[in-house]
Amino acid sequence: MPFSKNILCIGAGYVGGPTMAMIAYKCPQYKVTVVDINPKRVAEWNSDDLPIYEPGLDEIVKSTRGSNLFFSTEIERGIKEAEIIFVSVNTPIKSYGVGAGMAADLQYWEKTASQIRNCAESHKIIVEKSTLPVKTALAMERILTSQENDTHFDVLSNPEFLAEGTAIKDLEDPDRVLIGSRETPSGVKARDELVEIYANWVSNERIITSNIWSSELSKLVANAFLSQRISSINSITALCEKTEANITEVAKAVGMDSRVGNKFLHASVGFGGSCFKKDILNLVYLCRHYGLDEVANYWEGVVRINEYQKERFVLNILSAMFNTLAGKKICLFGFAFKANTGDTRESPAIFIAKKLMKEKAEIVITDPEALNNARIDLDGIEGKISYIQDPYEASDGCHAIAVMTEWEVYTGLNFEKIYRSMVKPAFIFDGRNILDHKRLFNIGFNVFPIGKPPLTHF
Ligand code: UDX
Ligand code: UDX
Repeated sequence: MPFSKNILCIGAGYVGGPTMAMIAYKCPQYKVTVVDINPKRVAEWNSDDLPIYEPGLDEIVKSTRGSNLFFSTEIERGIKEAEIIFVSVNTPIKSYGVGAGMAADLQYWEKTASQIRNCAESHKIIVEKSTLPVKTALAMERILTSQENDTHFDVLSNPEFLAEGTAIKDLEDPDRVLIGSRETPSGVKARDELVEIYANWVSNERIITSNIWSSELSKLVANAFLSQRISSINSITALCEKTEANITEVAKAVGMDSRVGNKFLHASVGFGGSCFKKDILNLVYLCRHYGLDEVANYWEGVVRINEYQKERFVLNILSAMFNTLAGKKICLFGFAFKANTGDTRESPAIFIAKKLMKEKAEIVITDPEALNNARIDLDGIEGKISYIQDPYEASDGCHAIAVMTEWEVYTGLNFEKIYRSMVKPAFIFDGRNILDHKRLFNIGFNVFPIGKPPLTHF
């Protein structure tokens, strides 16, 4: 049976791979091809060992790959054949020149746009999947039409709101799908074509449309709002630690107001992940670009509090352990930026591991999925580090445990056994408030949660 649509995605990353796998899974009538410049990544997508860990992803890829889902490095051929092209290449923070450390680096984006222009022989709908500064679609349109060429392109914005660790659930049952388009007849027609794809499994009231700039901006603002909630609660943990208030009780009391809601109010050692910091800094950069310094300063505060929270965590460890960590062994429980992923991009654990090593502590890292990435992140850092999968073995002989990631497996460990194997006095710094602190204290640990009075035997 011939396919009714040819869909291409450029960029087989955390976003492109799972999103396209879901479209292929829900729409057997479409042919979905994912291309990437990185042949190793493509080979991994074609193997039994997928390049990313995401619950439920393996099953979906296995049931569609080779039938209507294909991974390939043949970008030019993919462009020629497709009617709809999703672009999901990475847009990291610029590390050089104007806007370094703040603005999005759009070099891959622009290269991809030029490549589409050079290869396309017929009308294409180009869908921005990556998170981008508002008005990027305009630049995209300019690049696509910059050559004498009869080919017509429609650019849409369709930001992805999936969170790692729950990507499959988020894709299958999204809160909303947002599609932004030009309000021209051709733009609206392109938009309707994309709506039709999602309508295969998402109900109509959850597919919302808007003008293209609102759509681009909404993604940045959504991430800014989410991270602002975390920084808000984290800022209050510092005050709780001074006043004997308990952050869990405060968050519960505040979150039960239905106008506030209880999600994204979990105090933590700080937020990580590839998106939050990058997107807020992008928003800040845009505001400054338009001369809106007050607005920029407001949002920049969210990142500043996050840095402060990570710094504070290390200072708390240092002061609790008698102001010296030299030669002490500290075990990091978790290295991923959140549970249920092997991703460590911008993980607070990276910052904390480096700071602890600056204090000459010896670090032992344990994580169910992220040890390979941890090795890459800490490659070349001076100091003693080991990587041990088993948490019992990892904490054996350590002076302290610091919980970095809220992996559920840590809540079910035999802490009596762990306590016996550690150097005394033994410390636990719970950077995620996931453990039973009273119980740990009764076992003998000195317990330092986030935003709650410590429980110590001194
Ligand atoms: C990406 C963007 O980083 C982010 O801004 C956006 O919000 C969603 O898409 P992610 O999928 O997590 O996020 O990025 P990554 O896992 O780094 O994947 C990007 C892929 O694009 C990589 O596999 C890379 O090899 C590929 N790529 C990059 C290309 O195929 N062509 C390029 O020119 C550049
Ligand atoms: C985020 C957005 O949620 C998603 O919509 C967007 O598409 C990409 O960015 P992600 O970064 O994958 O997704 O994970 P998320 O669950 O948002 O967590 C981000 C960070 O915040 C993690 O480090 C997490 O541990 C932390 N966090 C989250 C908290 O510290 N407290 C909370 O209450 C929630």
